[in-house]
Amino acid sequence: MNLPYAEPYKIKMVESIKRSTIEQRKKWIKEADFNLFNLASDKVFIDLLTDSGTGAMSDNQWAAMMSGDESYAGSSSFLKLKEVVQKITGFKYFLPTHQGRAAENVLFSAMVKEGDLVPGNSHFDTTKGHIEFRKATAVDCTIDEAFDTANLHPFKGNVNLDKLEKVLNENSKENIPFVILTITCNSSGGQPMSMENIQAVSRLCKSYEIPLFFDSARFAENAYFIKKREKGYQNKSIKEIARAIFDCGDGMTMSAKKDGLVNMGGFIALNDEEVYKKATVFNIMYEGFITYGGMNGRDMAALAVGLDEATEFDYLESRIEQVSYLGEKLIEHNIPVQQPIGGHAIFIDANKFVPTIPRDEYRAQALAIELYIIGGIRGVEIGTVLADRDPFTRKNRYPELELVRLAIPRRTYSQNHMDYIAAVLKNIYDSRDEAKTGYKIIDEAPIMRHFTVKFEKI
Ligand code: F0G
Repeated sequence: MNLPYAEPYKIKMVESIKRSTIEQRKKWIKEADFNLFNLASDKVFIDLLTDSGTGAMSDNQWAAMMSGDESYAGSSSFLKLKEVVQKITGFKYFLPTHQGRAAENVLFSAMVKEGDLVPGNSHFDTTKGHIEFRKATAVDCTIDEAFDTANLHPFKGNVNLDKLEKVLNENSKENIPFVILTITCNSSGGQPMSMENIQAVSRLCKSYEIPLFFDSARFAENAYFIKKREKGYQNKSIKEIARAIFDCGDGMTMSAKKDGLVNMGGFIALNDEEVYKKATVFNIMYEGFITYGGMNGRDMAALAVGLDEATEFDYLESRIEQVSYLGEKLIEHNIPVQQPIGGHAIFIDANKFVPTIPRDEYRAQALAIELYIIGGIRGVEIGTVLADRDPFTRKNRYPELELVRLAIPRRTYSQNHMDYIAAVLKNIYDSRDEAKTGYKIIDEAPIMRHFTVKFEKI
């Protein structure tokens, strides 16, 4: 018998969200300088800004919080978390940090220097930011298929091995501190890497004696896709697949706000003792003592449970199938989205949705604003605004894709919310030809401008 999937949990507590009118939202978004990050959350009906730290914790996680050990040194919650991380990843050393970018800051302080190259698959913006901040360069070696939103390649997070080998071959290994693989690859649409590709990258790195790290924010979702799509993994558990991924590398950074199922937290795990020792110094300076690294004991306790829950098949199935349910609805309405549907979010292709708005008027941002005005839905631009200016020429960088991301928080919204989102988008899509002008920037920060940038309507 083939029955549909259903959530492997029921609801114990609810949180109210507020509806509003189009007129109210027009006023609010103008007051927010047309930057969705500036909106108070009670002015948003369905918040798809991010899946980071916005999910619901389980009763077991809340229970674990009550037993959190807040000792400065040697907290038992730290030791418990360390044990879970070691079991899931196999890495020897572990350093907690307050979130993912803090893990990047600590690790990169120990490993990246001016002039270095850090190849990978479409680095996330904080990863890229932390590389460029150190006057090093992030080299994107993602396969070309990833940049064609209609291409149905099952692993669009994959690395083009020729592109990667060229970088490794043409540069001295002293200038390549590591290769970093983002699983799943957020910037290319929450797209997974295949085990085959991860293993091939690993072999290449070994042959050039360059360490391999994972940006593991959504590693469990990546493992789910491997189980569903790659030959030979159907009968493996998510935990076995995750372990097989990590066995290919030397270490990882983690934003636990995603596949850790917690609201705040992160960590570094790695095998090299020398790097660990160096990173320890930075951890103490930037984050806190090595047995808490910016996290409360109770948060580490909840994370230990969350990592275990996030690597269970039934949870992952309901999580990823919910995202896919929304994606399929949009595809039915002919709305151009990145396909196949990724793990944590829907990525709307604004180049195809609103080609009528000039690129230098931030068409994806314009679409995200319209989605808020019409439906009270907050998504985020992943396009020219996020791509920022070239650090050397200070000119706008125009990425291949102009996307609006609708990130789905974990265990948070219902299928009715998905139907509502699809209906709002269909309405906007039906009148898309009327959109002719976008926005201009009137104020921006020198790096990671998207958080604080101010716009004016053209
Ligand atoms: N790596 C990836 C792949 C991410 O998606 C993020 C965060 C980070 C690193 C940084 O982690 O936020 O804990 O400091 N992504 C969030 C998002 C912000 O909305 O996609 P953090």
